[in-house]
Amino acid sequence: MLKRTHTCGQLGLSDAGKKVTLAGWVHSYRDHGNLVFIDLRDREGLTQLVFNPESRPDAHKLARTARCEWVIAAKGIVQRRSEGMENPKLATGQIEVAVQQLEILNVSRTPPFEFDGAEKCSEELRLASRYIDLRRPEMQQKLHTRHRVTKLVRDFFDRLGFWEIETPMLAKSTPEGARDFLVPSRLHKNCFYALPQSPQLFKQILMVGGVDKYFQIVRCFRDEDPRADRQAEFTQIDVEMSFVDSNDVMGVHENLIAKIWKQILDVNIAVPMRRMSYKEAMADYGSDRPDLRFDMKLKDISDIAGQSSFKVFTFVTGKGGIVKGLCAPGGGTKYSRSDIEKTLTDFVGDYGAKGLAWFKVKNQESEVRSQKSEDAKLTLASSIAKFFTPEQLQQIIERLCAKDGDLLLFVADNEKTVNKALAPLRCKLAKDLKLYEEGCFEFVWIVDFPLFEWNEDEKRYDSLHHPFTAAIEDDLDKLETDPANIRSQAYDIVVNGSEIGGGSIRIHSPKLQQKVFELLNLSKKQTTEQFGFFLRALDYGAPPHGGIALGLDRMVMLLTGTENIRDVIAFPKTQRGQCLLTDAPSEVDAKQLEELNLRTQRHIRG
Ligand code: AMO
Ligand code: AMP
Repeated sequence: MLKRTHTCGQLGLSDAGKKVTLAGWVHSYRDHGNLVFIDLRDREGLTQLVFNPESRPDAHKLARTARCEWVIAAKGIVQRRSEGMENPKLATGQIEVAVQQLEILNVSRTPPFEFDGAEKCSEELRLASRYIDLRRPEMQQKLHTRHRVTKLVRDFFDRLGFWEIETPMLAKSTPEGARDFLVPSRLHKNCFYALPQSPQLFKQILMVGGVDKYFQIVRCFRDEDPRADRQAEFTQIDVEMSFVDSNDVMGVHENLIAKIWKQILDVNIAVPMRRMSYKEAMADYGSDRPDLRFDMKLKDISDIAGQSSFKVFTFVTGKGGIVKGLCAPGGGTKYSRSDIEKTLTDFVGDYGAKGLAWFKVKNQESEVRSQKSEDAKLTLASSIAKFFTPEQLQQIIERLCAKDGDLLLFVADNEKTVNKALAPLRCKLAKDLKLYEEGCFEFVWIVDFPLFEWNEDEKRYDSLHHPFTAAIEDDLDKLETDPANIRSQAYDIVVNGSEIGGGSIRIHSPKLQQKVFELLNLSKKQTTEQFGFFLRALDYGAPPHGGIALGLDRMVMLLTGTENIRDVIAFPKTQRGQCLLTDAPSEVDAKQLEELNLRTQRHIRG
């Protein structure tokens, strides 16, 4: 077998005259009868091979049989391409290899999709033949970026004295809010392991174990419906540190992130990064993961709306709800009435809004204008404008800093629903109206989260992060009296509207931890069963500690500019949790089930 001497991305003019051997896949071929050209591809690039029937009739004859994706090796001489035939888009575009000897290493069936334009073919097809899909330069670049990030992360933490320690995959479940994937135990009938949703308790126990600084690039498993930025099986850069406060943890990680962005994208990220309280994020952006690439803050107009005669608004404010909205710059000209009443209204409807009230901002007639102040040149046009006095309309214009040609959109409902609908609307409008440049990154730490969140269905508190999160010391006295207003020492790192990480300082006092479990309505029995091992560990001198987990998949998505998490995972699952390559999940032998003391409903029914 011919052994390669170079890769297909390596040769240039300075190699002219060299004897080389290349190996790879036939990317494309052109048979000009006289000369045959093959673009040979490997991981590193493309090189043009040329076969001449006069000088090498055997190689030329064989080359005419080669088809796309066949695997070949070719030996020949590097030569400068003839004038006018250079390809400036290709790293090797100045040269070609005049082949003297060709070996066909393997043939290939016709691939199920065209290489160029694969992005447009169905993703199912690409996933089912992932081995072909992965050959595409776009996919290879993503895999390579992921490799570079993990290498960088390992070097970064090693230099700071962190140890990478593996924690069990067959574990007892840790509550991160999702369903567990369960694994039945053969040796312990009727018992199950849970695949870890995160190594949360193990990493805390490593701190009790004196490890001091831990990290792990670790797979986590959560049985929830996959989404564009969510997989059931994903990877975290998981970290825990002893004797630290939240500034220490945030400081290390913003430096790591800045380093990654510099090395991978050559983008300078300013540190320390901006910080914003949860309260401010919810008020101004309706979300705890605000996209700060554009402004378009949400504004509450409940006071004005409540005084109007628009029943929809007065009904909601009368019940203690709110009316909140935003000003889409230029939206008044971009969107037609039917765009607003159909497309945008349906959009917010998907998030639970019962409607979308709108006003187009217009210049008033000139004669009216001459009598008014600067701001009063503007007026609002809408089918509901008649329910507002001119003064109220002016107040709305001022509150939203509206300009001629803008579009004002409002949702009236309880605060939660309003924010849930307006936050994604804000992002959609910004995208439609091109309010930001692609390729810029706005990082922000969200801090001062509430420790608890009231669960109306179950009439109890839930942890906003997880039950091991410490409270801000000044708020601890509210534990008995006012739990809803306790702030936590948690921090989330958000970029361009994507939460790429989250963590907290932990509770290290066993008494306090027990108290929090009580507030979450966990009985003594439940706590002992689920967390007894952990509470016992805290009893033996747990150091103050805290940590974070960054979502590796989400970071690589941002670094490679894709909105599809499956693009950055070599073998991902579909939205329905399937691996189309291997057909997992699949049924198993009755014998396997028997060994595990399990029977499916189908077996029971026979
Ligand atoms: P959390 O649950 O916030 O925290 O997860 C940390 C980060 O992991 C990423 N992430 C995901 N990425 C892809 N698919 C998913 N299904 C998915 N779920 C989460 C996100 C998220 O910010 N143990 C805590 C961390 C800690 O307190 O130290 C934890 O797991 O980017
Ligand atoms: P209706 O009275 O239902 O015909 O609605 C009149 C206008 O108010 C329409 O543009 C609706 O989309 C809008 N609207 C209805 N309910 C709400 C709501 N809860 N919040 C904001 N706008 C609404």
